Amino acid sequence: MSYAIVGFGKIGQALAHAFARKNIDVAVASRRPPEALAPQARAIGPTVVAKSLRDALEADTIILAVPFGEHREVAKALPSWEGKIVIDAMNAFPVPEELDGLPSSAFVAKAFTGAKLVKGFNHLVAATLAADPIVQGGHRVVFLSSDDEDATAPVAALAKQLGFAPVKLGKLNEGGALVQARGRTWGQLIFQDLFKKEQ
Ligand SMILES: NC(=O)c1ccc[n+]([C@@H]2O[C@H](COP(=O)([O-])OP(=O)(O)OC[C@H]3O[C@@H](n4cnc5c(N)ncnc54)[C@H](OP(=O)(O)O)[C@@H]3O)[C@@H](O)[C@H]2O)c1
Repeated sequence: MSYAIVGFGKIGQALAHAFARKNIDVAVASRRPPEALAPQARAIGPTVVAKSLRDALEADTIILAVPFGEHREVAKALPSWEGKIVIDAMNAFPVPEELDGLPSSAFVAKAFTGAKLVKGFNHLVAATLAADPIVQGGHRVVFLSSDDEDATAPVAALAKQLGFAPVKLGKLNEGGALVQARGRTWGQLIFQDLFKKEQ
């Protein structure tokens, strides 16, 4: 598997720290050229490599860490998303428009035609997400939900590799609603910094 993080702000950098901590290669990109991101990427760790958006999107698995309203711009950068896994770490805040009555991640999925979308890594504030997920003898929980059942397993495997304890919540409009933030309405699991002890 190859990985990219699109958006290199608070959440993108927090996730980059998680990859660097485990020496897992990850490309990072934003609208700025790679040279502009490279010093910060290098400062996080040698496995974090700044790339152009187009080059970063060659990865199999792409984490969206851009402001919600920007996801469609990212989607336009590839002619086809077939075969890709997209992890939606965004929260729909502020809400720029109606979401056609869909969960925010299902709305995002519409823009990434052909990709398999998993909602995850969105429920913690950036500083918590950036910190070592092994705490108090347990692993910090990340919640995963998806309407593409076979996409959840590889994302759960990644979360584990990064040191988190993945908890699968089922479909976007079921368990996913518990981790959905929409404007100032927050699902009940948003901001819950939970740990799972080794079994
Ligand atoms: N901050 C938190 O604690 C937190 C917690 C949970 C979830 N989230 C969610 O995570 C997402 C990112 O939040 P953030 O706080 O990390 O925001 P941020 O600090 O403002 O960073 C946003 C990043 O996205 C890049 N970007 C913007 N438009 C882009 C585009 N069209 N293509 C590629 N890159 C683009 C920006 O870089 P350039 O300007 O260089 O393009 C910047 O690196 C949001 O959806 C937010 O709701 C945030």
